Amino acid sequence: MKYGHFDKENKEYVITRPDTPLPWINYLGCEEYCGLMSNTAGGYSFYKDPKERRLLRYRYNNVPMDRGGRYLYIRDNNSKDYWSASWQPVLKDFDSYKYECRHGTGYTVISSEYAKIKTKTTYFVPLGENLEIWKLEVTNTDTDTRDLSAFSFVEFCLWDALNDMTDYQYNLNIGQTEYKDNTIYHISRYRVNKDICAYFSCSNVKAAGFDTQRRDFMGNYGDWSNPRAVIEGKMTGSIAHGWSPVGAQMFNIKLKPGETKTLVFVLGFVENPADVPAKVSKFKDVKVVDQALTDLKQYWDDSLNKFSVQSEDPELDIMVNLWNQYQCRTTFNWSRSASYYESGIGRGMGFRDSNQDTLGFVHLIPEKVKERIIDLASNQFEDGSAYHQYSPLTKKGNGSGYSDDHLWLCVSVPAYVKESGDVRFLETKVPFVGGEKGTVYEHMARAINFSLTHVGPHGLPKSYFADWNDCLNLTHNNEDAESVMVAQMVVYGAYEMVKMAELIGKKEDVKKFTDIAETMKKKINKVAWDGNWYLRSFDEQKKPMGSSKNKEGQIYLETQAWGVMSGTAEPEQAIKCMDAVNKQLATKHGVMLMTPPYKEFIWKYGSICVYPPGLKENGAIFCHPNPWAMIAECIIGRGDIAYEYYKAIQPAARNEIADIHKTEPYVYCQMIAGKDHPDFGEGKNSWLTGSACWNLVAAMQWILGIRPDYNGLLVDPCIPKKWKGFQVKKVFRGATYYITVRNPEGVSKGVKSVSLDNKRLESNLIPPDKAAQTGKAGKEHHVEVIMG
Ligand code: GLC
Repeated sequence: MKYGHFDKENKEYVITRPDTPLPWINYLGCEEYCGLMSNTAGGYSFYKDPKERRLLRYRYNNVPMDRGGRYLYIRDNNSKDYWSASWQPVLKDFDSYKYECRHGTGYTVISSEYAKIKTKTTYFVPLGENLEIWKLEVTNTDTDTRDLSAFSFVEFCLWDALNDMTDYQYNLNIGQTEYKDNTIYHISRYRVNKDICAYFSCSNVKAAGFDTQRRDFMGNYGDWSNPRAVIEGKMTGSIAHGWSPVGAQMFNIKLKPGETKTLVFVLGFVENPADVPAKVSKFKDVKVVDQALTDLKQYWDDSLNKFSVQSEDPELDIMVNLWNQYQCRTTFNWSRSASYYESGIGRGMGFRDSNQDTLGFVHLIPEKVKERIIDLASNQFEDGSAYHQYSPLTKKGNGSGYSDDHLWLCVSVPAYVKESGDVRFLETKVPFVGGEKGTVYEHMARAINFSLTHVGPHGLPKSYFADWNDCLNLTHNNEDAESVMVAQMVVYGAYEMVKMAELIGKKEDVKKFTDIAETMKKKINKVAWDGNWYLRSFDEQKKPMGSSKNKEGQIYLETQAWGVMSGTAEPEQAIKCMDAVNKQLATKHGVMLMTPPYKEFIWKYGSICVYPPGLKENGAIFCHPNPWAMIAECIIGRGDIAYEYYKAIQPAARNEIADIHKTEPYVYCQMIAGKDHPDFGEGKNSWLTGSACWNLVAAMQWILGIRPDYNGLLVDPCIPKKWKGFQVKKVFRGATYYITVRNPEGVSKGVKSVSLDNKRLESNLIPPDKAAQTGKAGKEHHVEVIMG
């Protein structure tokens, strides 16, 4: 069944039934204030840090799912019937309740109609503000005047989200609220000497009553779906001194036939409660609110217009032009911290994940990518290895002992330099954890050196606690386990170093890194080629994993794709291993990470065996490495296969099978259950995932083939043979390129001719526009490409 559709013109996804298989969410706020917002108004907000500065309480893993949130109740004071403006939490049945939710860029609009009363609530965070607006419009479609009350409701979190759900002897005694000038203040103290405050108010209508103690609003055994206050139509004016502070107000609304009344709610965060009145009154005029929403939309339009495509696949267009880029920006903002599957308590900025994430927004915000890379590189040790993650608040690292983390710098830095042309960045000095400084180039060189000098019995890099695959934990008694994937990453990184060394004139390094790449490549092909594909690893006993000789886990995707992407595979090997992927791992729902999954717990392989067959690393369709297979297929020129893999996991293409897929059809999820799982095809863990950036890269740079390189913009499409062509707009180093690709001969790959502003180029590399690069106004260029 379908639950919604894309509205291309308004750049929104429209949900037409509230009972989506899982909450389908959006992110409000793209700076310091963030709100997670589901299609039935569930979710929570936080300021900067979802653990330490959590504004609203949310119950993960709750039944019924997706409670609390940003709730508005409407009560008919004559019939005493009541309902929610967002379906949840009152849950009226669909015979009488109409509903629509529109998720847009940074805003969500939920509309309902019940008992001849329409509501439309627009939720968003204005630019530059640490607050969210809920604009509620209530319209009477009846022929009689209606006597209604509206109730607003939020439940406050006692700031520290972990403590809030563990330490009740303490936290049931710290809650405090105040009520002043129509505004609720949540002033529970935060540790010592902190005046931070959350506030909730209606900026343009005076409340007829309020409650700030949960039991007074809900009643002792009441809950969100049948709160006492709404049933009785009466508030008690309670102030919280301990227990559970909430924010709830009641508003009496009389509506003539056809009349609409608008209420503007403001929920926000301040460091100093004295700032609250000004914040609230700033938004008392609905025009100001509307302008703030217009500005927000404009901001997103401007930020996402650096790349767009018009192809023969409208779903590809909608993903690449909007949703996939929007998701990438969201991973920039919140990394893996707060989603409906990440509770905002545990994880910081992962070294590996954050490096990869940059690939998805380097074309949007190169300056920010530069800062991010500097933060990451500052968490690298002098020996070249790195912390596993760092805290976004302090930028300090923690955790270490992974074999791959440091090498992802050799993926992010080249991508930044290729996109921006900022070669000087390579010579920027950045400290290591110990304090010593080195250029960015030196940081990468040391990353490679670490892996080269920490090798196991076959001469391949040790796999330590884990490599990219967090769940292959092969190190127990000794450190002999080795990672083929890390070896391939060394080859990849060394080849990039060769090109960067050329760029900055380090001649000796050109030879040095060529040797490193060639030697490692030979070694891999000698010891880690299984005959038809690459092994995945060697365990502590020097036994291969990912081999035809293994009973389970015979073939893994990562080393096939990276074998090709890194240039390790000779042409014949590349075809063979990608054929093996196609034969053994590809399914109609995407490419599985490995097969066959482990059925029993095999301790020496580690946590991969924790998962039931077909989930997560144990044989799921991991959406993050799927694009690696697409890229590898593009490298070997098989556009039809690349596109088939792309479509299999593309969220928009799964809209039709939402009951199977379950997660949002407008963003990537981390994984889809593999064929060995009873729920084959079910998506899990959406939004904050490396799937976002890599799928965008696969689509923009490899299938469409518009790929930044050190010396210009490459045009190297690898498309389905039946495509007649496509058009792309790409902003590159300050200039705008309008690229038209034609495919008269029905090929997948190969460029016969390229002309730039009607002049034929010698190759498919468009040289950068020098004038635009030096800051002079960016020029527009027209590029004509004929494939064949
Ligand atoms: C998760 C982690 C990522 C890891 C992947 C595979 O997506 O965030 O760091 O590489 O799982 O284990």
